[in-house]
Amino acid sequence: MIISKLPNVGTTIFTRMSQLAAQTGALNLSQGFPDFDGPQALRDAVARHIAAGDNQYAPMTGLPALREQVAAKIARSYGREVCADSEVTITPGATQAIFCAVQALIRPGDEVIVFDPCYDSYEPAVELAGGRCVHVPLALPGFGIDWQRLQDALSSRTRLIILNSPHNPSGALISQAALDQLAALIRGRDIYLISDEVYEHLVFDGAKHVSVVAHEELYQRAFVVSSFGKSYHVTGWKTGYVVAPPALSAELRKVHQYVSFCGVTPLQWALADYMAEHPEHVDELPAFYQAKRDLFCELLTGSRFSFTRAAGSFFQLLDYSAIRPDLDDLAMAEWLTREHGVAAIPVSVFYQTPPKDLRVVRLCFAKREETLRLAAEKLAAI
Ligand SMILES: Cc1ncc(COP(=O)(O)O)c(C=O)c1O
Repeated sequence: MIISKLPNVGTTIFTRMSQLAAQTGALNLSQGFPDFDGPQALRDAVARHIAAGDNQYAPMTGLPALREQVAAKIARSYGREVCADSEVTITPGATQAIFCAVQALIRPGDEVIVFDPCYDSYEPAVELAGGRCVHVPLALPGFGIDWQRLQDALSSRTRLIILNSPHNPSGALISQAALDQLAALIRGRDIYLISDEVYEHLVFDGAKHVSVVAHEELYQRAFVVSSFGKSYHVTGWKTGYVVAPPALSAELRKVHQYVSFCGVTPLQWALADYMAEHPEHVDELPAFYQAKRDLFCELLTGSRFSFTRAAGSFFQLLDYSAIRPDLDDLAMAEWLTREHGVAAIPVSVFYQTPPKDLRVVRLCFAKREETLRLAAEKLAAI
C-alpha cells in the first residue's frame, strides 16, 4: 500500500464544478478561464514558429527574447530595471513557478504563512517540501491583512510568506501601505516572500497594481510570479514567469531545471513577438475586464444577491444569504449549477477554517458578453 504524501488532497473543486457544469449543461462561471480566445496574431505566431521549426528545447531559463520583453514590461509598468538574464525565468505556468520557489526555500519543519482564502496550490507545494502552512485569515469584509493575526502567526520557524494581489477569490488589492507595513514586520528576519501577481493587469476603477517588484526592500527577498495565461487569455498555454533577485533566481532555477527544464518553445517565441508588437495589450486589459465586471454587476443589481464590485482579478463574489441561507456554500454552488444552470465555486474551499455562516460563492466574469448576459439573467431570476 502506498502511503500518500498528500493524504488530504483529492480532486479539486474546480475540476468537480467544471465536470458538473458539463454534465448538466450549465454555464460554467466556476473555473477561472475565458470562454473567448487570445489575440489572433498571437495564435498565428505559434503556428508560424511551429512551421518554421522552433520545436526543440528552449534555454532552461526561457528564450532571451521573451525574458527581455518581460524585463521591458516591468520597467514600463513598475519602473524597475530587472536583468533579463539573471532575474527573469520563464516557467510552464505560475503554478510551476510557485512550486519551484517553495521547493527552493522550504526545509522540513519550516513554516509558511498563507492568507486565507488562498489559492489551492500553495499548501501541497509546502507539504511536499516538508513544511507546514500557517493559515492567517484575511480580515472581512475587505479581505485586507489582519496585522495582529499575522504578527501572532510569525515564529522562529517562519521561512516564507505567500502574498496574492489582485486576490483570488476576492479581487482585493494590496496597498503600498500594507507592503510597507509587511516590510517593517519582517525586517531583520530570515523570511522570504512569494508574491503571486498573476492578475497584475486586471485592476479596475483607475486603481494601479502595487507590485512587490517595485518595492525596494521587499523585492530583495521576493519571488514575483505572473502568468501569460491570464494576461493573454490563453490559460491552457500554462506559461508564466518568475522575477527575483539573482541569488534567489539561481536557487529557483536549480529546481525548475529538474522539474521541467524549460517552457514550451513555440509558445515562448509567439509571446515574445506579440509583446514586442503589442506592448499596449496589457494596458488595455483593465478597461476590457472592467467592462465585463460592470456588465455582470449591473445585470445583477436588483437581484437577491448582494455584492461589492471586485477591485481586481476576473472573479466576482456574490453573497446569497437572502436567497438560501439554509445551504452552505458547497450545497449552494451545486444547487445553482443543477437547478439554475450557472456553475460557481464555493468560497469555503479556499479556507482551512472557513468563517462560520459563510454564504458566498465566486463567479468568473472572463466570459463573452452573451455568456454574462445569460448567466446574469438566470441568477437574477432566482
Ligand atoms: C492566484 C492564482 N495563482 C496562480 C494561478 C495559476 O496560474 P497558471 O495557470 O499560470 O499556472 C492561478 C490560476 O487560476 C491563480 O488564480
